[in-house]
Amino acid sequence: MCGIVGYVGRKAAAPSLIEGLTRLEYRGYDSAGVAVLGPKGTTRVRTVGRVRALEAALPKRLSGRIGIGHTRWATHGPAEERNAHPHSSADGRISVVHNGIIDNAANLRSALEAEGVRLSSDTDTEAVAHLIARAEAETLEDAVLDALGRLSGTYALAVLDERHPDRIVVARSGSPLIVGVGEKEMFVASDVAALVQHTNRVVHLDDGELATVTADGFVTFDRDSNETGRVPVEISVAAEDLELSGHEHYMLKELCEQPEAAATCLRGRLDERFATARLDGLALDARELRSFRRVKILGCGSAYYVGQVGAQLIEDLARIPADAEAASEFRYRRPIIESDTLYVVVSQSGETADTAFAVNEIKRKGGRVIGLVNVVGSSIAREVDGGVYLHAGPEIAVASTKALTNMALSFAMLALHLGRLHDLSFADGKRIIAGLERIPAQIQDIIDASDGFAPIVGKLAQSTSAFYIGRVRGFPVAREGAQKLKEISYVHAEAYQTSELKHGPLALINPDMPTVAIVPDDELTQRNIAACEQVLARKGPLVAITHPGVDLAHLGVDTVVVPKNEPELDPILLTIPTQILAYRAAVALGHDVDKPRNLAKSVTVE
Ligand code: AGP
Repeated sequence: MCGIVGYVGRKAAAPSLIEGLTRLEYRGYDSAGVAVLGPKGTTRVRTVGRVRALEAALPKRLSGRIGIGHTRWATHGPAEERNAHPHSSADGRISVVHNGIIDNAANLRSALEAEGVRLSSDTDTEAVAHLIARAEAETLEDAVLDALGRLSGTYALAVLDERHPDRIVVARSGSPLIVGVGEKEMFVASDVAALVQHTNRVVHLDDGELATVTADGFVTFDRDSNETGRVPVEISVAAEDLELSGHEHYMLKELCEQPEAAATCLRGRLDERFATARLDGLALDARELRSFRRVKILGCGSAYYVGQVGAQLIEDLARIPADAEAASEFRYRRPIIESDTLYVVVSQSGETADTAFAVNEIKRKGGRVIGLVNVVGSSIAREVDGGVYLHAGPEIAVASTKALTNMALSFAMLALHLGRLHDLSFADGKRIIAGLERIPAQIQDIIDASDGFAPIVGKLAQSTSAFYIGRVRGFPVAREGAQKLKEISYVHAEAYQTSELKHGPLALINPDMPTVAIVPDDELTQRNIAACEQVLARKGPLVAITHPGVDLAHLGVDTVVVPKNEPELDPILLTIPTQILAYRAAVALGHDVDKPRNLAKSVTVE
């Protein structure tokens, strides 16, 4: 949720740090800070608010060639300057930036205070700075190792020391940390977004690994000081992928990129000859895949809702019992891990702490877990036994769009693959492939028609609360629709199974409570129309997201008509208008669409 950057080289560090922090702002953005080490010691500047406030506060002449920086999303203590990173030791010699949470921070802080240390913040990180400064060690590396020995929790740390002004020492346990390799300059970041402007050669540190980074290179080592000899890999993300490219918001850009992203996700994976999908990264052969009696899908937030779409696809196409659960709950309920269950985790960032914990728990108990992940080399992608990359490209907006669509497409391919290993016919396999191939153009059709959504946007933006209802395949669509509206427009929205409306929530229907109903052209259309009539009878305004063949004219309601695909794949397309409606409502309300309040792109804390 927070962002780390570091620079050491021949140039002034501050511009690189500010640029990196600006690129990481989407991860957390209530305060920011840098520490730059120059000939006269460390200059530390921290401000509340956006990185541009930090940039404005920097001294004009800040010539140090080594420095670290941080954007913060508050966990320990409010968003105040004294809680912003970098934190430093009492004498200012040691500066530390940190992502993650130190679980035993309260004990460490008490112990430090008992030893006479005056703490100046509410944070867990400040304790780390003091511990490093107080370690009896010759080298910064040993001092950091000494301090790490007293920490429990998760961290990505970058440390500067005035006594060793040529180096940044970094350490990782549970939070991502990347070293970027340049020409006579080196970079440190928690996310490749901060590096791609300068280099595409990176080293993703492993948990338990540290590195010493100087202008001339880096050395990686483990907690026993043994060198781990890591070599850089090339990443394919280009700096242009992270630009707005003329769009007003990243969410709009990413929403519009969906046809292309969907095509990329499907490319080379649909096998016409055997009417199946080829997912080489699964690392599971046909015999193993046939042996699973159940599929359990785990993700958080919108990824969990797409997991519900995935579970339905797997039950429909492969006839294997499947369900989705919030990974954030799964990890706390002593789940029973079964050897004949295939566990599937789904995550755009690949860094969501709750999902990562679920992976660890499943693996510890002997379960087989695969991942549907967007960010290549992310923690979850590296931890799972195999998986499917989403190939959505970088996603910056907090509200996920193209990654979610590609998650659904990946589930469809997984379901097709499993189905063809069970009893899905060749003809049905071909039918699903043809449906998948139509999806990119159909998404484009929805986007092209979206100017017609304006009257509906107005109604949603003016309301204080809305219902989203859907039945069976439509229910996860309703959940995701409600989530999007809440997330960026701050209009309260609740999703309900259409069938459950009459069991309670119907009492809330009134002229000020719009309902967005998912009404696909399928075997449940008439049941859905009957529910719409019940809403209208209570004078509730109604919007139907529906298909061309569905006759709603007699109801006189607002409709969004989405191209029809195969019934199993329809949820993918029905979701697109809900993204557009939420985006436009948020814009109409004047909200910061890409950085909604209280939220961060990647939730790396519990
Ligand atoms: C989606 O719009 C949300 N920002 C959020 O629910 C998100 O899907 C969730 O936090 C999971 O993130 P992940 O895909 O990176 O694991």
